[in-house]
Amino acid sequence: MANTILIGAQWGDEGKGKIIDVLTAKADIVVRSQGGNNAGHTVIHRGAKYVLHLIPSGILRRGKICVIGNGVVVDPLALIVEIDGLRKSGVKIGRNLLISNCAHLVLPYHRLLDEQRELHKGRARIGTTKRGIGPAYGDKAARTGLRMSDLMQPIVFSKKLQAKVLENNRILQALGAKPVSFREVNESYLAIGEKLRPFIGNTVVYLHRALERGKEILFEGAQGTFLDIDHGTYPYVTSSNTTAGGACTGTGVPPHRMDRVVGVMKAYTTRVGEGALPTEDRQFTERLHGLGREFGATTGRKRRCGWFDAVATRYATMINGTDELAITNLDGLDDIDPIRVCVAYRLNGKRLNVPPSDAAQLANCKPVYKQVRGWNKSTRSARKFSQLPLAARNYVKYISEITGAKLSMISVGPERGDTIIL
Ligand code: GDP
Ligand code: IMO
Ligand code: MG
Repeated sequence: MANTILIGAQWGDEGKGKIIDVLTAKADIVVRSQGGNNAGHTVIHRGAKYVLHLIPSGILRRGKICVIGNGVVVDPLALIVEIDGLRKSGVKIGRNLLISNCAHLVLPYHRLLDEQRELHKGRARIGTTKRGIGPAYGDKAARTGLRMSDLMQPIVFSKKLQAKVLENNRILQALGAKPVSFREVNESYLAIGEKLRPFIGNTVVYLHRALERGKEILFEGAQGTFLDIDHGTYPYVTSSNTTAGGACTGTGVPPHRMDRVVGVMKAYTTRVGEGALPTEDRQFTERLHGLGREFGATTGRKRRCGWFDAVATRYATMINGTDELAITNLDGLDDIDPIRVCVAYRLNGKRLNVPPSDAAQLANCKPVYKQVRGWNKSTRSARKFSQLPLAARNYVKYISEITGAKLSMISVGPERGDTIIL
């Protein structure tokens, strides 16, 4: 397998975890380059369900090295909980996990600030995961963040932490929240820092040496294209670059070493949190929830559901340079007939083929639908393209064509084996 960047082509939760798990079979190293434990990547294998938040989904396959890159924001408490949980379910974590010494830390005041900002925004809230992601990336951009390398030097860490706690407690108190205790945070973080010490190092050098030895790397994107801080539906976005470029900046691997970009998209659209979702359909949402589908992997929130939005996915192909597409959750449409596909937007009497950058304008866009035939049959047992019903074959061909990239995988169920590779 070539060095592959895998990204979400919609609003997150496209099924990246499942596809990463399938692709990991042919990779040597799996790297996370952005986001934090706002991500929830589900892998189901032999009936056992794993939800990965910070650790790359490749960890479930023996002999693979997993790297948390410099662009990730790490909540050490959440990471330890995740490591312990995986170990309890029999997953080995030792020399197969590396964490960048440049990764920024998520601290308790980030989580509290995230919560307070959302609370004070009221109806204008973003609907964040409240994991402190925005404030942690905010500190990184403001050059006042603390990094893994600080945590590895207790005296340096305590000094920097003290100043940050002082600053943030003033803000928290002004917002009406309880301040954090420097002593408690200092003690708990330093203790966890010692547990994490064996994993911390210069991951940039590690990845480059691996490339020199011909190792193949899979870059595991988190969130999705329209949650990208630059290219997404700002301000209803996350705080990192979720698009393909983020894989380079978030790991230190340059663009010319990347061989292909795989875009993962659902056969329909979902979004969790606030912000416009042009193809949102309440009836369709209720139907999927009624089937027990589309509940968030991180917060358990109900995902909002809508029809496939080709205006969005076509734009995602352009930004990410998507070479290949993996379509997931095709089985979610098994008994839906007819199926609608959004081919353009209409805004103030004009037809748009590109999503407007302004969130308020996007919220006013009306989808232009093309109606296609459903297949009214289960696709769950299909393992070859030819085993799919004709209408399902036509549907996936159609949505890949209008998205503008080559179809390479179709997922018809959550398990590793429920996959058609073309
Ligand atoms: P991620 O964040 O992109 O990794 O996606 P999530 O794991 O948050 O959400 C995707 C959901 O769809 C999870 O519950 C997966 O187990 C599930 N899933 C992925 N692919 C398929 C599929 O083809 N069919 C079905 N039924 N479920 C799928
Ligand atoms: P994976 O990797 C779906 C959404 C939140 C909110 C916005 C900002 O599982 O696809 P944040 O906590 O990041 O500041 O929240 O982004 N969001 C996600 N939605 N999947 C995710 O990750 C998400 N991570 C963040 O719901 O709307
Ligand atoms: Mg998810």
